[in-house]
Amino acid sequence: MFSLIKFQVHIVVLLVLLILLIESRVIFPNVPEIIDRESLLPDDFMIEDMVELENQDPEVLPNLYQGDIALNNEIFNQLRVGLRWDTFPKKRWENRTIPYAISPLYEPEDMITIMTAIRTLTRMTCLKFPKWNGKDKDFLLIWPIKYPKGCWSFVGKVGGPQILSLQPPDQTGPNCLGGEGRAIHEILHAVGIFHEQSRNDRDRFVKVVWDNIIPAYKGNFEKQSLENTTYSFEYDYKSIMHYGQSYFAKEKGKLTLVPKMKGEKLGQRKSLSQTDCLKVNELYGCLDNIKTAKKYYTLCRILGI
Ligand SMILES: *[C@@H]1O[C@H](CO)[C@@H](O)[C@H](O)[C@H]1NC(C)=O
Ligand SMILES: *[C@@H]1O[C@H](CO)[C@@H](O)[C@H](O)[C@H]1NC(C)=O
Ligand SMILES: [Zn+2]
Repeated sequence: MFSLIKFQVHIVVLLVLLILLIESRVIFPNVPEIIDRESLLPDDFMIEDMVELENQDPEVLPNLYQGDIALNNEIFNQLRVGLRWDTFPKKRWENRTIPYAISPLYEPEDMITIMTAIRTLTRMTCLKFPKWNGKDKDFLLIWPIKYPKGCWSFVGKVGGPQILSLQPPDQTGPNCLGGEGRAIHEILHAVGIFHEQSRNDRDRFVKVVWDNIIPAYKGNFEKQSLENTTYSFEYDYKSIMHYGQSYFAKEKGKLTLVPKMKGEKLGQRKSLSQTDCLKVNELYGCLDNIKTAKKYYTLCRILGI
């Protein structure tokens, strides 16, 4: 009896692998023939001055704005937890649709992780993620960029093929693909969402331990003015968009962010929190009508962390 179950498990695993092989073959021909980073990244792509970063989280390593956010020459003075579409109308994905292609350089198990993240987002939000058909002008191109290394993404739609980089596992660890969480985090940046602790009211909820932050990276902990920013939901410690407690720490294990409420933890990278889920649905107008609002409030409550 037991060995029969084991046998069935093996069959299921084989089937999944087979489906993946077929799926990846579907993905391959769609991927444009661009492999070197020069042709993938915009001319005005900014990498901040390098300071030696060791023992840091893979979201911290890319050395971009706040670690993992890629900017072109635009400066986001009008940040909110989600982008303001009235200020940046072109950064909103049209028809709630984000076509994507995955690099053939990923191992099958890493492709599964990325596709699991996309499935989670499809299930919990009103966004659609079709595979790129080779024709859509704007799409996400998920690619293991070598430099800057790590996990990073632009915020909102950039236009054209848009890189989202997820560093595959290597001898240093799982990097960005140990689970679906980091893929979800970076995709949420591409959807139009910023880090939770940059909210204007964050000082009521977290203490920034400035002395423990690597001096060159203190700017990553700035918050946004109320004049330019807004948010609709309660501060969310459980957000997949919140920094971890030791990001940009001078020494491993030193705290840079401490929650002010007892028992709260920071920096989960498992899945969307209930509020993350509502945030995405709100940003794309899916809480505006009573019927879809009811659906997504229920979905977020049941499936959110
Ligand atoms: C708000 O944004 C404007 C322009 O984007 C900027 O000049 C100004 O300094 C910002 N206000 C604050 C208080 O940060
Ligand atoms: C969005 O939908 C409209 C109407 O169906 C269509 O004309 C338009 O091309 C779509 N946009 C994209 C980017 O697919
Ligand atoms: Zn981030």
